[in-house]
Amino acid sequence: MRTPLIAGNWKMNTDGKSAAALAKAVAAGAARFGRAEVAVCPPFVYLPEVGAALAGSPVGLGAQNMYHEPSGAFTGEVSAAMLLDAGCRYVILGHSERRQFFGESDAVVNRKVLAALKTPLTPIVCVGELLAQREAGQTSDVVRSQLAGSLAGLSEEQIRRVVVAYEPVWAIGTGKVATVDEAEAVHLDLRKTLESRYNAGVAAVVRILYGGSVKADNASQLLSAPNIDGALVGGASLKAEDFLSIVDAAR
Ligand code: PGA
Repeated sequence: MRTPLIAGNWKMNTDGKSAAALAKAVAAGAARFGRAEVAVCPPFVYLPEVGAALAGSPVGLGAQNMYHEPSGAFTGEVSAAMLLDAGCRYVILGHSERRQFFGESDAVVNRKVLAALKTPLTPIVCVGELLAQREAGQTSDVVRSQLAGSLAGLSEEQIRRVVVAYEPVWAIGTGKVATVDEAEAVHLDLRKTLESRYNAGVAAVVRILYGGSVKADNASQLLSAPNIDGALVGGASLKAEDFLSIVDAAR
């Protein structure tokens, strides 16, 4: 049985005060988590104060990106070891906004995933098609190729530690959520891809989250699908009660 994971991607939102308050409010809902694993991913600079706000709570801390090199002359970048130092357990990699606005290719994402896996961090690796690709019937090809490229060269032991997030780009921040059938079909496709690239054991344990306009009112339906193992939540993770309602749907 896969443990559901609900992760909040705060993106470039909040400030020092509101980040700590939001984290505290999420942690205060811990009695509602049930069997769900819960994480929040604030901007880099707020990791220490959010980490402090979460101290003693079951909410995990995550980052939204990292660089693959361990240290050195890479101005503006942050390494996996630094994230661990700041208390992170998770790191989101290959988010569509990174791919779209910062030119991250599957090869770049792959280097980051491999670097994260050299540490205890759990990478949350995002894939997802553009609207035009869906309309052209290319969804399966696109997500399979992103999965293969982003996760190239991972051993069985490594792939078991990865969380995949399927986030159709057209559903992110748009209020247009994929239907349960649309999402479940892609999740099943990704799981079958894992099975053919590795084996049934791997396919059975790797968690595949859905992301893209997940809200309190659509979460239970999405999360009831057999191959949807949690959610990566953007907008709705910025209000504790909205986020906790999504957690309620997962437990
Ligand atoms: P959204 O973002 O929930 O605001 O659509 C999801 C994401 O980008 O991870």
